[in-house]
Parts: sequence; structure tokens; C-alpha cells
Amino acid sequence: MKKILILNGPNLNLLGEREPNIYGSETLNSINDAIDEKARSMGYEPVFFQSNSEGGIIDRLHESRLDCAGVILNAGAYTHYSYAIRDAIAAIKIPVIEVHLSNVNSRDEFRKNSVIAPVCRGSIAGFGSFSYTLGLYALDNILGGSHD
Ligand code: DQA
Repeated sequence: MKKILILNGPNLNLLGEREPNIYGSETLNSINDAIDEKARSMGYEPVFFQSNSEGGIIDRLHESRLDCAGVILNAGAYTHYSYAIRDAIAAIKIPVIEVHLSNVNSRDEFRKNSVIAPVCRGSIAGFGSFSYTLGLYALDNILGGSHD
């Protein structure tokens, strides 16, 4: 069974209490539970990781090339300025889908730029927790199904 990594970056551990008017009231655990069920129903084994540090995200991306078929990544604010995360994505061969809960293009100017977008297979933003589900559909399409 192919594994998919759902990787969340800084401050996303506070979903549910963090700016709910922007990010909604669901916690990261409840979002992950829904993705877990969805991914399994599609025949994938999802693995979940969250880190508030750049190095933690980079280390998990490196590891994912050994055990995962693809990655759904919400890099949080690192999206907008982390060349180190961008380089880590470029260094691995598996597809990485950039996702955001909020519509980053309708917010602050600095959020309109993603330094990771050019090295991701595609980007999804603005659909709340459904952005992760859309990321899953995109990966499934790229991978050609869940079977090895
Ligand atoms: C976010 C958007 C980022 O700009 C922000 O820094 C986040 C969350 C989102 O999911 O909408 O932490 O990635």
C-alpha cells in the first residue's frame, strides 16, 4: 500500500483556536482524522507529521523520499520565504502538493508569493480543510492509483 505524507508546518498545531475567522474551527487532529479515513478509502496509508521548525519539516521531507509515494504540504508561513524548504522539495523526486486552508491570494501582500510553488507539482488554496482532500485527489491522479 502506498504511503502518503501529510506534512503541516508552523502554527498549524493551533488550528481550531488560531484565528478561526480565517482558518476555521476544526482542529488539526480532526482534519487529520478525516484525511485518514478518506486516504484509506482510496487505498493509501497516510502518515501525519507537524513541526513548528524549518529543520523538522526538511528532515521529514528527506525521510519521505524513502518511505512515501507523495506529500501533501502545508508549509504555513515558511511557504513565503523558506528557500531551504524549497530546496528540500527540489531535492526529492516524489511529488509534493502545496496546500493552504485560506485563500493566500486574497490576504496580505506577502502571502501572495510562494517560494515553494515552482518546485511543487501544483498548489491548492482557499478551500479550508477540503484543500487537503483536493491535495489527495491530485496525488492520486499523479500516482495513477494506490497500488504499487
Ligand atoms: C496557511 C497560509 C499561510 O500564509 C499562513 O502563514 C499559515 C497558514 C494556510 O493554510 O492558509 O500559517 O498556510
